[in-house]
Amino acid sequence: TTNDSRVLRAELMSFDSDPGDADTPASGSLCHIEDGALWLENGRIRAIDTFSRIEPQLPPGIEVIDHRGKLIMPGFIDSHVHYVQLEIMASYGRQLLDWLNEYTFPEECRFANREHAEALSNAFLDEMLKVGTTTAQVFCSSHPNSVDAFFSASQKRGLCMLAGKVLMDRHAPEALTDDAIGGIGDCERLIGDWHNNGRLGYSLTPRFAPTSTRDQMDATGGLLRTDPSLWLQTHLAENTGELDWVAELFPGSRDYLAVYEESGLVGPRSTFAHGIHLDQEMRARLADRGANLAFCPSSNLFLGSGLFDRQAAREMNLNITYASDVGGGTDLSGLATLKAGYQVGQLRGQPLTAWQGFYGLTLGNAKALSLDDRIGRLAPGMDADFVVLDPAGTSLMARRTARSQSLSETLFALMMMGDDRAVSETWANGQCQHRRDNFAA
Ligand code: GUN
Ligand code: ZN
Repeated sequence: TTNDSRVLRAELMSFDSDPGDADTPASGSLCHIEDGALWLENGRIRAIDTFSRIEPQLPPGIEVIDHRGKLIMPGFIDSHVHYVQLEIMASYGRQLLDWLNEYTFPEECRFANREHAEALSNAFLDEMLKVGTTTAQVFCSSHPNSVDAFFSASQKRGLCMLAGKVLMDRHAPEALTDDAIGGIGDCERLIGDWHNNGRLGYSLTPRFAPTSTRDQMDATGGLLRTDPSLWLQTHLAENTGELDWVAELFPGSRDYLAVYEESGLVGPRSTFAHGIHLDQEMRARLADRGANLAFCPSSNLFLGSGLFDRQAAREMNLNITYASDVGGGTDLSGLATLKAGYQVGQLRGQPLTAWQGFYGLTLGNAKALSLDDRIGRLAPGMDADFVVLDPAGTSLMARRTARSQSLSETLFALMMMGDDRAVSETWANGQCQHRRDNFAA
């Protein structure tokens, strides 16, 4: 048996629980080690402590990578993103329903081709790793091929990924629609091949209520009841035009959420993207089921969907996750998601602290997605997925962070000014999977 082991020396930061919304993290919620050592062994974290306490325990000859001056935290998690929309990001000037018809659906037709799906899966994973994201919950297209391509590419790199085939049996081009029985059959095959296969998990993916018949949603709920270890992802209450359409299509349902409840789609492993136009009673129903919302601030601003009410969701103890929602989103970077989240919060009088933001990208998202037994924290036994951030990644950031008086100030500057240039390295499954070219900072 080979023993693959090394140590990284750097400033280390990881949350053990929700830091709360105050200016300082709730007591016991933060693990912060200024001169720390992260000891990796066979894809996992063997130990984490101060460098001076780890050093005497190290076997002779072990590789020690000196990252002093850099900040290591758990790899970022993106709870809602469409890999098949990578190349239609930044398509100008439409709100949701027109944007879907004009740009998104034609683009997703291209994923009938397996080679195209493979090329875009690899391009997407390269871009994710470049911005420090090591896990995502991903929409593929309606073609089963697009899911095989994505999972194969993820497995080759040893990444922890959730994904699923879009279920859509109406109100879309014929080249993209399945039917209630065929779509579910495809899911069963994909679940057999990929669900809980190594670090991969299957997420049932009815696109949203307008593009699925009641039969298709009922059948999806049936799969979820048969195997509660499956995940589910869809969209909810993003846009007012969408709300009107859902009310028209489902006149017997009391509201949009009820359409999903009636098919058994609302549970602790369900993530509903957007959830902007909800009332407190709907938030309470989501919270009672342990379901998650995905806050997608750059997408909500880009598509003009609305300003997510984070405070209202937190008052109901509703799980909030953070997501890019590319191609509706304008940036894959978790740092950019936090920046947009902060801006939305400012407009609502609910500014997002750096503590809450970085907790959300790491342990918060991991907990909401039931992945916190494996990822989201730097702790012994956890999978070795982490990001090495450089607070001086550009000359301008170096100026700003040289003035920081505290970790909180540095984190906030990273979330407002940071991009791929702040990501020095990204590690997943114990391996360095991205290293930044540093020649043009
Ligand atoms: N609602 C239904 N499909 C989509 C999609 O692809 N993107 C976004 N942002 N919202 C949706
Ligand atoms: Zn989406």
